[in-house]
Amino acid sequence: MQLQDASYNEKIETNLVTLSRHCPFKLRASSYHPKTGLAGGVNVQGEDVKKLDVIANEIFINCLKSCGKVSVMVSEENETAILVEDPALRGKYCVVFDPLDGSSNIDAGVSIGTIFGIYQVKENSTGEISDVLRSGREMIAAGYAMYGSFTILVLATSQGIKIPNRGKIYSVNEGNTKYWTPECRAYFDSIKNPSDASKSPYSARYVGSMVADVHRTLLYGGIFAYPADQKSKSGKLRLLYECFPMAFIMEHAGGYASTGSKPILDVTPASIHARSPIVLGSRDDVLDYESFAARES
Ligand code: AHG
Ligand code: MN
Ligand code: MN
Ligand code: MN
Repeated sequence: MQLQDASYNEKIETNLVTLSRHCPFKLRASSYHPKTGLAGGVNVQGEDVKKLDVIANEIFINCLKSCGKVSVMVSEENETAILVEDPALRGKYCVVFDPLDGSSNIDAGVSIGTIFGIYQVKENSTGEISDVLRSGREMIAAGYAMYGSFTILVLATSQGIKIPNRGKIYSVNEGNTKYWTPECRAYFDSIKNPSDASKSPYSARYVGSMVADVHRTLLYGGIFAYPADQKSKSGKLRLLYECFPMAFIMEHAGGYASTGSKPILDVTPASIHARSPIVLGSRDDVLDYESFAARES
């Protein structure tokens, strides 16, 4: 069954050509694949860009540029920081964001989302890159929207929900097991095959959209990890607009977020797309992971 007729494809291609005039990476409109949602471009991360990545990115940049509250933006999809040029529109906040998290799940209809963190521009600064290359401790707010069976916005405030101190779910891509450190393998083995016969094994849940995996961990407790491994030596997830906002939210909910050996919010990124290993969730579970990671191999 032909899903789209020729005129539908022409319309899509015209839109993409218009869109591609503004977007930060090269789009080959003719290579748009209606069925897969691929936009035919590769972003600064080396990832295949989906049409929704482009559209979400453009919407957030345009809204944040015109709101008059923001001076500096960092987006996963833009190689360099975006400075608001018009002095009349520059504001006191810096927003770092992942416009669309979980892109690999778009065509499968699995939950995806948007992740963001907010810094305040430093004293006497007019808004430059040094305003965002700061530790997660300096973030003043963070949140995510999840677009799934329902749409939800989670915003970190001083009150809000409390994550259980210990959970019964672990969330990690076990397809990477062969690349893990022995300590990482030993930790996950200890919760899958507990040495104490009276303890039940943890359940496995892994969506592959950070927003969905973190949201479930926030509500049900347990541990989410994207550890460093032989393939991704610094881990895969980006500090500024994935790790920090989720760590900020976790700690506000009484949980904990670590690089695997120390609090991740204490890290200062060396560049706007710097990556880090991350282990977050119920405090006792993450501390257990750190105790395994600290063992000499
Ligand atoms: P993004 O779609 O913004 O590039 O993020 C994808 C990330 C994150 O959502 C998820 O936790 C992780 O990639 C999944 O990676 P693997 O497919 O390697 O498990
Ligand atoms: Mn991506
Ligand atoms: Mn992401
Ligand atoms: Mn993304």
